[in-house]
Amino acid sequence: MNIVILAAGMGKRMRSALPKVLHPLAGRPLLAHVIDTARTLSPTRLVVVVGHGAEKVREAVGAPDVQFAVQEQQLGTGHAVHQALPLLDSSVPTLVLYGDVPLTRASTLKRLLDAAGTERYGVLTVTVDDPTGYGRIVRDADGAVRKIVEQKDASEAERRITEINTGIVVSPTRTLEQWLASLKNDNAQGEFYLTDVVERAIEAGVEVVTAQPDAEWETLGVNSKVQLAELERINQRNVAYALLEAGVTLADPARIDVRGTLECGADVTIDVNCVFEGRVTLGDNVSIGPNCVIRDASIGAGTRVEAYTHIEGGTAGANVVLGPYARLRPGAVLGDEAHVGNFVEVKNAVMGRGSKANHLTYIGDSDIGARVNVGAGTITCNYDGANKHRTVIGDDVFIGSDTQLVAPVRVGRGVTIAAGTTVWKDVGEGELVLNEKRQVSKTDYIRPTKKKV
Ligand code: UD1
Ligand code: CA
Repeated sequence: MNIVILAAGMGKRMRSALPKVLHPLAGRPLLAHVIDTARTLSPTRLVVVVGHGAEKVREAVGAPDVQFAVQEQQLGTGHAVHQALPLLDSSVPTLVLYGDVPLTRASTLKRLLDAAGTERYGVLTVTVDDPTGYGRIVRDADGAVRKIVEQKDASEAERRITEINTGIVVSPTRTLEQWLASLKNDNAQGEFYLTDVVERAIEAGVEVVTAQPDAEWETLGVNSKVQLAELERINQRNVAYALLEAGVTLADPARIDVRGTLECGADVTIDVNCVFEGRVTLGDNVSIGPNCVIRDASIGAGTRVEAYTHIEGGTAGANVVLGPYARLRPGAVLGDEAHVGNFVEVKNAVMGRGSKANHLTYIGDSDIGARVNVGAGTITCNYDGANKHRTVIGDDVFIGSDTQLVAPVRVGRGVTIAAGTTVWKDVGEGELVLNEKRQVSKTDYIRPTKKKV
């Protein structure tokens, strides 16, 4: 089967410089969702019809299996499909999808494809409470589809019909070519309507069949930011319910956003207002506190992520404690039972099993062994203004509070670093390291007081 995705429209009502189909839903362009669904049907040809912002659209969703047809002027949905014809395999049917209708399920499309087979013309229709604006499905006394009439061309009686055209259709391709070529634009909008193909099919003696989606939201399109926000909520609710069905505990399914994929083990608990981006994996018994943002991360079994933790790429082992207010950046790798506490940032660094950095610390470009205690206020000075350097710390090191480690530097296993030390030379195994300094107390000091004016 061929799949044609219409994505040439400008989307004036979005009031944005970004082409409509590139507006993100769940963190990805609307069109990317449609292409993903299309791919699950294994089309032989996948063609996107672009027009407004064609270059941006190509850049955003370009892939080896996607071809683009350009519709220079938006002369209607029938005209749009016409532009794709040279790229199609005429021996198999063509399914038409819309780049701004992101949530149609593959199972619904399969139902339509099954109903149409290779010889029939299939239309995905849905009956709605308020059909305003949509094309209406006009049936005869026997219930057979006669035509589709657009809102603007419909009679009073036709406007009362509540079964509407979702726009998604499937057609034998060879005949579609002829039908599209014969379309006229003598209608209220002066456009070449894809919907008029139905009458051509009937004239040609081709049977027209319909199928319906399981849910109405599958056919909703995005024309405005309001509709985009509504679809985002529908999508997030669906994702949240799927997580609940899979056994994840959500404090509130209305207060989680997944912009990517979230895989959860058994007995995972997620508190309110968490955002998951990219690819996130949570092991068994992981608990996520409120207000966490977690992107591209793998979190091991039994790990506790406390409130306000921000992860932008990283791996945590089992039974780790993170946060509150911890930050992991790309390349952070925490061994089992590590603790990373409040206002601690870890970037491109490994912390071994059971190591702890509980307060106010920056660990960057470092290899930290097991059971290391990183005192409050410790900083790895990894950047010399031009290059990054590594800090290497052996097992069982005790780092006193307010220590600076000026990289490149190596600290042997079992070392004790006194509080307030600047370590700029390597330290041998088991040594105590400190900077010599004096504590001075003065008795004649008078603290300044504010002058009264
Ligand atoms: C269309 C259908 C209508 C249906 C509705 C469902 C026609 C004539 N009407 O109406 O029956 O109920 O969708 O939402 O088909 N597009 C192009 N090039 C064009 C025109 C449109 O690529 O020249 C694309 C748009 O970007 C959009 C889609 O086709 O993604 C639908 O176009 P739109 O103008 O929104 O169609 P409607 O008038 O809503
Ligand atoms: Ca239109």
